Amino acid sequence: MDKIIINGGKPLEGTVKISGAKNAVLPMMAAALMVDGISTITRVPNLRDTRTMIRLMEIIGAKVSFKNGTLTVDGSTVNNPEAPYDLVKTMRASFYVLGPLIARFGEVKVSLPGGCAWGPRPVDYHLKGLEELGAKVTLDSGYILAESPKLQGKTIRFEYPSVGATGNIAMAAVTANGTTIIENAAREPEIEQLCLFMNKMGADISGVGTDELTITGVKQLHPADIEVIPDRVEAGTFLMAGAALGEVTVQDVVPKHLKAVLSKLEETGAKIEIKGDAVTVTKAENLAPVDMTTAVFPGFPTDLQAQWVALMMLANGSSVVTDTVYHDRFSHVPELNRLGANIHLENNVAIIRGVKKLLGASVMSTDIRASASLINAGLMAEGQTDLSRIYHIDRGYENIEAKYRALGADISRISE
Ligand code: UD1
Repeated sequence: MDKIIINGGKPLEGTVKISGAKNAVLPMMAAALMVDGISTITRVPNLRDTRTMIRLMEIIGAKVSFKNGTLTVDGSTVNNPEAPYDLVKTMRASFYVLGPLIARFGEVKVSLPGGCAWGPRPVDYHLKGLEELGAKVTLDSGYILAESPKLQGKTIRFEYPSVGATGNIAMAAVTANGTTIIENAAREPEIEQLCLFMNKMGADISGVGTDELTITGVKQLHPADIEVIPDRVEAGTFLMAGAALGEVTVQDVVPKHLKAVLSKLEETGAKIEIKGDAVTVTKAENLAPVDMTTAVFPGFPTDLQAQWVALMMLANGSSVVTDTVYHDRFSHVPELNRLGANIHLENNVAIIRGVKKLLGASVMSTDIRASASLINAGLMAEGQTDLSRIYHIDRGYENIEAKYRALGADISRISE
């Protein structure tokens, strides 16, 4: 198994180009299953999750090619509306094929994802939404079976603006009879881009980027092309490393996607400069402790909570970090404490008492974002940090060591 070895305590300086967003490309790949013909998606990050999605799409019957960041999907040969357990258990986003496949085939069989490293993560909103559109949904041997010869548009109100459920129901509804209104829809930029992509395919979705989507069913969709938006979570991860260790510019980003993160970074005393599609952070003389509570977009993303906790470890005082989106998402805390941090956890609240210094240690990745926080923490700690189980980081970060090395970090990967 591979490990990442970090010799930390060194300043970071330079520019890093941000890759396409994982959470935008995965649902758009699923959407491409709905049409006959070839759709092209560019700026696709080469990630383990992208490759898992390609494998799943090939099982479903699509012809997929992926070269130098360009992905083409030929949906003409799609013939098997089924997502097997073996793939869904390794990547929950596989569940995104539910909406497109029922829309195209009138039936679908998708393994139930089950729990994950940070709690139960149910899919009840997805299933309830499909039922409201007229599908019959049953559970058989761990698989969700959904069928409906033709879905019927309806007004659906989500109890919570779930990203995945909004994406799935929007994909199911674009070719339904009549109009579907999704109230309390997720407004995340990745869902906004999914809707824009479907509109390019001939869908009729209005209210894109707001919390109310109006989807008028169309008879047919056609292939379309799109460039993936930049990954705001990758950008935020590097900005937080810069705020701890020097001066880092993230390039090819959409600054308005990072608003909540940039304003929190400024509260630490860091200097933020925005120039077009580049953002530079310069660390504060004295890192101020800043409380943070995660929220749905445009709030502070839960996908950057672990990295924020890591940044606060060296703050000059105590801070409180609350995750309201995923209450159990704190598996990084005991690992961060191995480096000498002082973090106390109470339910979904982490209390971080800043320490003067961290010391490298052996730590373990538990999920994608926890791994990113441990890398930032390893760079902040003096001496050597070994990070194991790094397959998690490869699910969501492209060329991570090379990108950190370009900023002056001493980080490498070894095979054991
Ligand atoms: C997506 C992102 C993930 C991010 C999360 C929140 C992808 C591939 N993943 O995950 O990185 O952390 O958004 O921004 O884009 N919930 C229910 N029932 C449901 C669905 C969700 O109770 O049917 C709850 C969840 O348990 C959670 C909250 O709603 O507490 C938000 O989940 P959701 O927005 O659906 O996250 P995902 O789409 O799974």
